[in-house]
Amino acid sequence: MFLTGSMVVNQKGHLEIGGCDLVDLAKEYGTPLNIMDESMIRGRCRSYLKSMEANYPDFEVIYAGKAFLTRAMCRLLEEEGLSLDVVSGGELYTALKADYPPEKIYFHGNNKTTEEINLALSRGVGRFVADSQGELELIDSLAGEMGKRANILLRIKPGVVPDTHQYIQTGQIDSKFGLGLTDGQAMEALDKCLELDNLELKGFHCHIGSQIFQTEPFALAASIMMSFIREVALSRNIKIGELNLGGGLGIRYLKKDSPPPIDEYVKGIAHMIKKKADDYNLPLPRIMIEPGRSLVGEAGVSLYRVGIIKDVPGVRRYVSVDGGMSDNLRPALYKAKYEAALANKADQPSGEKVSVAGKACESGDMLIWDVQLPPVERGDLVVIFSTGAYTYSMASNYNRLPRPAVVFVREGNSDLVVRRESYEDLVRNDLIPKRMEKGD
Ligand code: LLP
Repeated sequence: MFLTGSMVVNQKGHLEIGGCDLVDLAKEYGTPLNIMDESMIRGRCRSYLKSMEANYPDFEVIYAGKAFLTRAMCRLLEEEGLSLDVVSGGELYTALKADYPPEKIYFHGNNKTTEEINLALSRGVGRFVADSQGELELIDSLAGEMGKRANILLRIKPGVVPDTHQYIQTGQIDSKFGLGLTDGQAMEALDKCLELDNLELKGFHCHIGSQIFQTEPFALAASIMMSFIREVALSRNIKIGELNLGGGLGIRYLKKDSPPPIDEYVKGIAHMIKKKADDYNLPLPRIMIEPGRSLVGEAGVSLYRVGIIKDVPGVRRYVSVDGGMSDNLRPALYKAKYEAALANKADQPSGEKVSVAGKACESGDMLIWDVQLPPVERGDLVVIFSTGAYTYSMASNYNRLPRPAVVFVREGNSDLVVRRESYEDLVRNDLIPKRMEKGD
């Protein structure tokens, strides 16, 4: 079985996470249910901070909120001493609603709207990670209207292409994100930033992609960014004090996956920055990293109730569950693969090969093709592992399926951190025009 964090099989033969029996959690909160091992998330936060502390003098660990963001998550981050990356007004609002300190927020995105920028400026977010010249001009003029100065990191495309799914590669030249180095766009934007009165250039940012299993591409990006810092120091005579290297460290989805440990990833980056600073005779910049998936991914599982089981003779057995692509889009979008088990039969040997189908009206809504499980019956609980990142945050209401509830589990206690959506929630924003109203 695929056990991570605090997972154990208890005496009843049920899977337990954070000291909570999943069969009991299903009874208490219903299914589908997202369960997050809080101690594991906190443990990952601490590993990043500890590794950084041991390897580099001046750093910040910023959680990429797009992986999973709720108000409770913001509280956890603040308690653990992490900063926060947001990419939309909605993520920013979530953080503000959790009283998360705005000065620790990094505001990303390739198309920040006027309203979003105004909200960020008025609440005093720490840094804007600016993605284009157009955005620099917009932030400058809005900051001017408010009589404020905005702190800027320029997002650069380092031109590094890691080995990961094409949809989640971001550092290559043909990307909607960032400013090219080789085509001169980065330098042009830098000059623009220096020229505009209401902007304060603090440093650079880059992000090469996600779910990456090698440490070399990160070190390569770090080295390219340091060369750019040198170029800027020589040609513009300015000192760049901050370098944000983005996120991207991969996690274990399948038994065979072996991503590098956090410490190895951090050492690779820290070593390269120190070496380049030394080679180029530059002061050490403050380093930021922005992990998302590797902080929450393995800490989460999705729990589903089995409904209809259908045999296609000689072909396969479809085991349908009460969720699917509406609560985990990753298999449909990226052909992402997962491991699974039966939470209520966790002590039984895997006896049959089945495929786990979602309930959406879409042939592509298959959560897992071909997985070995103990004999499955209606009412069993399928648990899918490593679903803490980019599942709840990418959930939709396709087929008008309500989004699941989310619970944090820790030391035998469970806390509801997101309520299950109700049917009433689904129609809350629907309006019926007057002319369509039914008469009495
Ligand atoms: N920083 C920036 C600027 C990013 O764009 C991202 C992810 C991160 C940090 C965090 O990367 P992580 O450590 O989580 O790999 N929906 C896709 C992943 C999209 C990642 C987008 N950016 C998936 O489900 O695989």
